[in-house]
Amino acid sequence: EEAGKGAYDHYMLKEIHEQPTSLANAIRGRVDARDGAITFEEFDLDVLDPVTQVHFVACGTSYHAALYASRLLNEAGVPSRAIRASEYVESAGPIAGGTLTVAVTQSGETADTLSALREASAHGAPTVAVTNVVGSTAAREADETLYIRAGPEIGVAATKTFTSQAVTLTLLSQVVAGEIDGASPREDLADLLAALERLPEDVEQVMDLDQAERLADRILDYESYFFIGRGLARSVALEGALKFKEITYEHAEGFASGQLKHGPLALVTPETPIFALFTGEETEKTVTNAQEAQTRGAEIIAVGPPDCAGAQISDAHLTVPDTHPVCQGLLANVQLQLVAYHTADRFGRSIDKPRNLAKSVTVE
Ligand code: G6P
Repeated sequence: EEAGKGAYDHYMLKEIHEQPTSLANAIRGRVDARDGAITFEEFDLDVLDPVTQVHFVACGTSYHAALYASRLLNEAGVPSRAIRASEYVESAGPIAGGTLTVAVTQSGETADTLSALREASAHGAPTVAVTNVVGSTAAREADETLYIRAGPEIGVAATKTFTSQAVTLTLLSQVVAGEIDGASPREDLADLLAALERLPEDVEQVMDLDQAERLADRILDYESYFFIGRGLARSVALEGALKFKEITYEHAEGFASGQLKHGPLALVTPETPIFALFTGEETEKTVTNAQEAQTRGAEIIAVGPPDCAGAQISDAHLTVPDTHPVCQGLLANVQLQLVAYHTADRFGRSIDKPRNLAKSVTVE
């Protein structure tokens, strides 16, 4: 098993570095940026015929990718929700033939997600599995399957599968929007597709910066680590906090930027740095939210393009290339993967196999 890591100390770092390749694979043969066209060869569009709304069901990191996609669908005029699979029965509401239910699951074997998928299917909902594993249970049971093509992921903390899920689901969101009455793909679809084609190079650029590793050296003594973001960036904030807590064993939480003042602000002190996401939309409001924390002594670590809204007020800055807003969030995620990794490495944690966690959880 050791040999599989190649030159890397951990599978997680290897898998972070595999993203330029896995992201190129996620869009290969699916995207024609010049014509603004998306094609899924393995996917029969007839499954979308009765669809009026979309539910995503997922757990953990996959839930955060689902949140990303749900936001994009709502923007395109398709009513959509991301539902934590373990809460599906309690919170899905009425399900019928018009509810496309998309199970997002890297392994295709997560018990909570499979049980939500089966429940939706039993109510007559058309189903799609978005998974990494060919022949997995989710792939076999769903009406249609889309593969994220990330290649095997050994590290328990999901990295390359998150970005590949987000990209595959971004494409799916625009395909669905194109098929549903009253909805339409985004006006800047051609720009988005061109940015997705550049994403592998942009990820490469982020990794070459080495900013996350340098930051890790000086954030080891804090009490808690908070992550805030708005809109699409909220899912990146939640994922950033999840990754950080999973492998560093430090207390980390992600919040919607606008919610900080409704409670979490009581926890903010000079001992609680805030990673503030300045990618995507309405980043000006996040400046105000970050400043409220800064006034209480918290260090603000901006994550966003060099001249993003938070650049002027931040105490430190993890930069990402100034690309399409939908892709900026994914690049910010790569920065946060690296922060979590290098911080956990400084603490000497068991990075590839964090305590108490499993790669795939097959009990409800
Ligand atoms: C476990 C893993 C997480 C993963 C989640 C969902 O909790 O530790 O990394 O995100 O399961 O897994 P799935 O295979 O369904 O994406």
